[in-house]
Amino acid sequence: MQVQIETTPIDKLDVDAAAVICFEEEKASVGTAVAPPQHVDPEIANQSGWMAELRASGEFTGKLYETSILHRPQGVAAKRVVVIGGGKRGKFSAVEARRVGGSLVRALKSKGVKSIALLLEASESEHAGAVIEGALLGGWEPDALKTDAKKNENQIQQFTAVLSEAAAYPIEKTAQRAEIVAEAQNLARNLINQPANLLNPAALAAAAESVAHEANLQYELLDREAMKQLGMGALLGVAQGSANEPFLIVMKYRPGREEGGNHLALVGKGVTFDTGGISIKPADGMEKMRYDMAGAAAVIGAMRAIGQLKPAIPITGYVPSVENMVSGNAQRPGDIVTSLSGKTIEILNTDAEGRLILADAITYAIRNGATHIVDAATLTGAIGIALGHHNAGAFTNNQDLLDRVMKAAKEAGEKVWQLPMDDEYKDYLKSAFADLPNVGGRPAGSITAAWFLREFAEPAPWVHLDIASTAWLDDAKPWMSKGPTGVGLRTFVQLAQDWVPTIVQ
Ligand code: BES
Ligand code: MN
Ligand code: ZN
Repeated sequence: MQVQIETTPIDKLDVDAAAVICFEEEKASVGTAVAPPQHVDPEIANQSGWMAELRASGEFTGKLYETSILHRPQGVAAKRVVVIGGGKRGKFSAVEARRVGGSLVRALKSKGVKSIALLLEASESEHAGAVIEGALLGGWEPDALKTDAKKNENQIQQFTAVLSEAAAYPIEKTAQRAEIVAEAQNLARNLINQPANLLNPAALAAAAESVAHEANLQYELLDREAMKQLGMGALLGVAQGSANEPFLIVMKYRPGREEGGNHLALVGKGVTFDTGGISIKPADGMEKMRYDMAGAAAVIGAMRAIGQLKPAIPITGYVPSVENMVSGNAQRPGDIVTSLSGKTIEILNTDAEGRLILADAITYAIRNGATHIVDAATLTGAIGIALGHHNAGAFTNNQDLLDRVMKAAKEAGEKVWQLPMDDEYKDYLKSAFADLPNVGGRPAGSITAAWFLREFAEPAPWVHLDIASTAWLDDAKPWMSKGPTGVGLRTFVQLAQDWVPTIVQ
């Protein structure tokens, strides 16, 4: 899909569909003083009355993402006008704007439409980048492995955000950034969507390597032997049950000019399949555990966008990647492993594997100069019990860093909610035989998992995003297909771009 932002008047654009956003509360004026969006000539629209008629019919209420298609309404050059609901005007933010872009693409692609222009009023024009991102994300389908010859026929080829007046920002740069970020997110979604027989840790590393080449990043790979030499017993304990070799993938972005001495590490859980190990998961739904590398994909995709957008601070992506399998070599409950940090860990449940591989990756990141750490991981089922599928959980040992991450998430249109990390929760992690156990029992499962990671991050400022319940959609939304969402990536990229390099913690 080709994307752009234009200030050309709509009647000069030759598109299959011109779209306008209409809001809910404006329903009150049905049939009388309905002000049509200013970029569709109000005079003509009023005269012909198609807008008012549509409202009066009750077919269109302005509810979020609802669409109505009109053919050749008077006064408009385009073959179709698509009216899309914006919900309540006062609640319309970048989140809704992105979803409007996605919903439009998804509503129109099955209808033979190839080009769309979405007209933005002055008050909406700040969201031009968001609607473009949404359009690109909405166009993505998890069908890479379907052989249907017709699957590509329905794609939208061109999406234009049209501004009703001159923008106060560089429109070309905005469109470019939106494209870089959304394409990175779709790359992440493609990685997540690959089944575990096709994407094992070696394949994930190969994908990261080609991203590193494309985006001018340095790339390093630690294999089993290298990790053994270093003493990454926590990661290797998880990996030992699999016939597939584990890797620690390292991707380095270094800006031309370094300032402030900050060095951000992005760490992503890369479990290419999680059977649970000897503490095996139930069969029902286990096939979904191929998305247990969604944190890794977010980091790899973010590193690509970072390489292209060139923020001011050095950033290194760390992706510990293993397969958590059951075999004669698999680690057992009761095993005690020594992590890279030197801390010993009693494995009480082999299904709590993510924190084990992240622990060694975090220690490694710190030893390699990270001053700030943000990780994303499909870490606990419990986060979905706490927050449902709408917010990722956020945890920290440093409120300043979390505030920055939350601000970035908000700007990027990703929902994140902070959970508490009082010292009391740490007491759930007690082992009689090792320094700490890998699970803390049933209460507050997401918090004790975060506390486990914190023990390895301390004293570096660290934020953990638990994306287990937001990285995968079980059902399609109007703006996005079923399957991988690529959550976390946009927050990472925004955080990197917003970073004030001179602030040293
Ligand atoms: N990968 C899972 C977490 C998960 C669950 C991700 C559901 C996506 C959807 C993780 O490795 C895991 O198994 N966690 C356990 C922890 C428990 C053993 C303390 C869990 O959540 O059940
Ligand atoms: Mn697990
Ligand atoms: Zn897992």
